Amino acid sequence: MPQQTFKLNGESVTVDTDDDVRLLWVIRDLLGVTGPKYGCGINVCKACTSHINGKAFNPCSVKVCDIKKDDEVTTIEGLAATSGGGDDELHPMQQAWIDRDVPQCGYCQPGQIMAAVAKVRQCQAEGRDVDDEAIEEIRNICRCGTYNRIREAIKAGADKM
Ligand code: FES
Ligand code: FES
Repeated sequence: MPQQTFKLNGESVTVDTDDDVRLLWVIRDLLGVTGPKYGCGINVCKACTSHINGKAFNPCSVKVCDIKKDDEVTTIEGLAATSGGGDDELHPMQQAWIDRDVPQCGYCQPGQIMAAVAKVRQCQAEGRDVDDEAIEEIRNICRCGTYNRIREAIKAGADKM
């Protein structure tokens, strides 16, 4: 069986699995990292949102063979540490989520936070404000309808990034 190597949350990982297995199943089932959630498997719900080289992507829709060995994949578990924080620290966006008590059932929330951080980074790189228009570009679905609290938390988290 082919070997697949990439960086996950700051560490190089290698797994034996077929080329066409989607990355989400490699991360969750083979590597036991379960922050990215499975919702649709077809790049629609965004529950699996993680980062590749600092940008948001959806590992349910990427074959593991399309990830290069130097690609940096980050999940919610590695967000703080790979953003310069210590192992016991939270990313400012995670803290903003706690401060505003955002989650309801919680299922979509790791993906929401990862999407939020990527959007703020994109806005900063482009010199844009993290305003309602920018936040509307995030397409992550929340079946519990926590969108108002998500919006407030993104703005508060962005102020600390
Ligand atoms: S599970 Fe990846 S977008 Fe829905
Ligand atoms: S908090 Fe339940 S789906 Fe978003």
